[in-house]
Amino acid sequence: MAGRTPGHGILAPENNDKREQLIEMLKKAYWMEIETVMSYLANSINPDGVRAQEIIESLRQDITEELGHAQRFGERIKELYGVVPGSMDFTPEQKYLQPPEEQTDVVHVIKGVIEAEAGAIEHYNRIIEAADGVDWVTQDMVIEILHDEQGHLRLFEGFLREYEAEGLA
Ligand SMILES: [Fe+2]
Ligand SMILES: [Fe+2]
Repeated sequence: MAGRTPGHGILAPENNDKREQLIEMLKKAYWMEIETVMSYLANSINPDGVRAQEIIESLRQDITEELGHAQRFGERIKELYGVVPGSMDFTPEQKYLQPPEEQTDVVHVIKGVIEAEAGAIEHYNRIIEAADGVDWVTQDMVIEILHDEQGHLRLFEGFLREYEAEGLA
């Protein structure tokens, strides 16, 4: 590879296959974050009603955080000699986070966020395992991001609990 300095660990030529595998996993993570930004953006604007305001405020803060995650995944892709993909490579997956029929249906949004966060947690756990023993930097970064997603999941599980307690979910 042009301009490449022989290194150790994940940057070493003998780890090319592992590096390629991690780049693919990081690209998937990158797209998951980008789609989450799109979904949270729409869902921080659409909901109506008094009860929706807490959800709107929370999602507005998360947009910035999820965008930050996308940036970190992108930067790591580059550091591993990969290329951050262009928009034509994007395939949407978050069917569950489309706008609900009624914009007062906050439970739909809460459940969608929980599904998105749970999906991210599952994929990031796989990256952490794939990086084990060969790419500590990716592993460390993804552990930090995983911590953020667990916080998001827990917050929205709490919102859902409140609705369930009142017989609204
Ligand atoms: Fe994220
Ligand atoms: Fe998140």
